[in-house]
Amino acid sequence: MQSANGKRVFIQEVSPRDGFQMESLFVPTAQKIDYIDRLSRSGLAKIEVTSFTSPKAIPALADAEMVLSGIRRMPGVEYAALVPNLRGCERALSSGVDEINLVMSASESHNLANVRMRCEQSLTQFGDIVRHSHDAVRINASLATAFGCPFEGHIEFTRVLELTERFVDMGIERVSLCDTTGIANPAQVERLFCETRSRWPNLELTAHFHNTRGMGLANAVAALEAGIDRFDASLGGLGGCPFAPGATGNVCTEDLVHMLESMGYETGVDLDALLLIAADLPDVVGHDVPGQVVKAGRSTRRYPLPGTPHVSQGVRGCPEPDR
Ligand code: COA
Ligand code: ZN
Repeated sequence: MQSANGKRVFIQEVSPRDGFQMESLFVPTAQKIDYIDRLSRSGLAKIEVTSFTSPKAIPALADAEMVLSGIRRMPGVEYAALVPNLRGCERALSSGVDEINLVMSASESHNLANVRMRCEQSLTQFGDIVRHSHDAVRINASLATAFGCPFEGHIEFTRVLELTERFVDMGIERVSLCDTTGIANPAQVERLFCETRSRWPNLELTAHFHNTRGMGLANAVAALEAGIDRFDASLGGLGGCPFAPGATGNVCTEDLVHMLESMGYETGVDLDALLLIAADLPDVVGHDVPGQVVKAGRSTRRYPLPGTPHVSQGVRGCPEPDR
């Protein structure tokens, strides 16, 4: 593995969308706004703040318009929202998002379960949305189940490449390959991203991993090896698709940033600030969250030798950030 040498990596926070969509308790709108405002000040490149989906499908994000109108936008941060159809696109445009994140799955069965459309119908909607909005907003296409499907299992590389080609042919310049239920392994990740990059060197690619089987950070390293510099991640490791059985949280943002910085990458993120927000996250969602660095402290944390006075801890068990 080559040295990172301060290479820039972009961290895209998805917990307000991928995370909150999965919560059984509705996070009140004011709390969502306060949470996103804190995230905005931590140096993240992009925040996916909500989704413009049917409130019957995703009741947890039924307040999308109110969230977008309530947040204080920080210059330099992109504000994105997930959109499954033309109706969602119109709502997103009225709310003034910076990026529409279109979603469809590589597998027919998950696409039907998630957005109640066949893949071709989703592609038709994507084409309509691009024509409807291309100059007004940036467009990203997120391809769910790109590394495997909880219903169909293996997804051929050729299927992912064909769908990526359809996106590119529509004029879409940003694509996320998503491992919706944590099926991907590092060898597969490196191969698929290498192949995709070599075919479309100017396409802005994002890696979107879930840590369902503990392979999330290993997959992130494999994506780095393939030259990927954009990662979706979710504070505390929240996240999951309500329409994918067995889905659990994304790669945890603060754990990912901690790992990348330890390796010498430049993330632009203030890890101390992120850890403080992560320490408050259990209060926001009402349960413990899987993130590890917030509990263990950074790898540079040192303990007093046995028999010496106890060193104080930070808020709620969150170890004091290193100074
Ligand atoms: N925003 C708000 N309401 C919407 C909508 C949108 N983007 N799209 C459709 N609706 C409404 C319709 O107006 C209709 O309302 P009504 O029952 O009051 O008349 C209802 O939803 C059904 O519309 P229909 O077009 O038949 O949609 P559907 O029931 O086939 O559902 C989706 C399709 C895409 C809207 C729905 O499956 C969805 O929102 N999925 C989101 C999945 C998701 O976010 N998963 C997690 C992220 S990967
Ligand atoms: Zn996801």
